[in-house]
Amino acid sequence: MRIVILPSADDVAEYGAAVFIRQLTNKPQSVLGLATGSTPLALYQLLVSACRRQHVSFARARTFNLDEYLGLAGDHPRSYRYFMQQHLFNAIDILPQNTAVPDGTANDPVTACLQYEQQIADAGGIDLQLLGLGRNGHIGFNEPASSLGSRTRIKALTQATITDNARFFQAGEYQPHLALTMGIGTILDAHKVLLLATGTHKARAAKAMIEGPLSAACPASALQLHPQTTVVLDEAAATELTDVEFYRHIERENQALVKRLSSQ
Ligand code: F6R
Repeated sequence: MRIVILPSADDVAEYGAAVFIRQLTNKPQSVLGLATGSTPLALYQLLVSACRRQHVSFARARTFNLDEYLGLAGDHPRSYRYFMQQHLFNAIDILPQNTAVPDGTANDPVTACLQYEQQIADAGGIDLQLLGLGRNGHIGFNEPASSLGSRTRIKALTQATITDNARFFQAGEYQPHLALTMGIGTILDAHKVLLLATGTHKARAAKAMIEGPLSAACPASALQLHPQTTVVLDEAAATELTDVEFYRHIERENQALVKRLSSQ
């Protein structure tokens, strides 16, 4: 795991946007794995403005979202499809048919999950997967005790996640307790993973993910097995890390190496 600790949440978003822009510059037909929630919002805004300024194009890219609420149609304002349309897809040059979000209203959601896996495989696999981090260590909707080898499937959400996400729903509004989510095995198959976490409320999960044992109790700890994961934290999310000075040292060494190589 590469651990990058930056001063603020804005810096985290800028770092993430630069990773996406580099990915699309090097491979315009990239297959991108995307996330919803609060964390990627600033990153998506930066990508929208880079696309408007023609610094990046999604015209040849394909995207697969991590998850969707079971029972919510794509035009439901709380659905993740709707979120993606509002915050990214409607404002960039991606072809609508190249964006995939699990279908929350599929007649047969079990088969829909299998088909989602097949679509990802048919696209050649995910080049770059963006992740947020749940306060309980979830990635996608893979809650604690999820199989570390799981594939796209239906998952019941924990009360902690339901409570955390209640902020997106109005009082009295129906909030699904089930979701379709890529599995941890699906996520681990991505070529590169970029996880962003900001704020003190993520500090405990960040510590468990980076320094804790590999355990289904913290699904994000499965990323310890992934050969190309970059975790980008703001100072607040890094407050519980024990080896923070070591991560900063490694990052300085990385930067120096990149500088040396690029000046040769
Ligand atoms: C969203 C997702 C979730 C979120 C996580 C953090 O598609 O898969 O795992 O990334 O719950 O959410 P925020 O960013 O709202 O704190």
